[in-house]
Amino acid sequence: MTYPIYLIGYMGAGKTTVGRLLADRLGWHFVDLDDAFHEIHGLSPADYIRTYGIEEFRRKEKYVLEDLAELPIEKVVYATGGGYPCYEDNMDCLKELGTSFYLRWQPRHLAERLALTDLNERPLLHGKDASEILDMITPQLMARIPYYEQADYIIDAPAAPDMPLDGSEDEQIAELLYNQIMNDDD
Ligand code: S3P
Repeated sequence: MTYPIYLIGYMGAGKTTVGRLLADRLGWHFVDLDDAFHEIHGLSPADYIRTYGIEEFRRKEKYVLEDLAELPIEKVVYATGGGYPCYEDNMDCLKELGTSFYLRWQPRHLAERLALTDLNERPLLHGKDASEILDMITPQLMARIPYYEQADYIIDAPAAPDMPLDGSEDEQIAELLYNQIMNDDD
């Protein structure tokens, strides 16, 4: 397996939480690319999009990831922004730079998880409940799936379609990823 590791997936997939847990477990660095974007450009992705528009955000987001990839540190787990893999040649870049993992969830579960997060940073979803969020995210998620599914590995969230979430899913996903990485390096 080549390093670094890139976690990809829709908003609410747990890229940041899982990435942090995984990096801790591996003893590697963790970088959240939304946070890196904020540090470099002085605005969070949400504020940047509000100020300069989505196209300019996509242009800048691409270079944040590619510039960081030039650092001479390989043992890094990156949480990418949810839209990153779905524009330009970004998915090809990820595959060239390291190993990508798609954190795949049922849309209903993503909506449930998003409804529990701070939606101030997600203006389109702000003030909506899980069922309204589901209606809003489904078309975009469907359009993004063909990109996400090009990842080197697809990790299905350990959550049965008709069962409620129990909150232990992110830890379980981190464990699945850890085992995959360790097995591959044997
Ligand atoms: C976006 C997801 C966000 C952030 C930006 C755009 C998207 O990242 O990059 O607001 O288009 O899905 P998270 O997936 O980390 O929330």
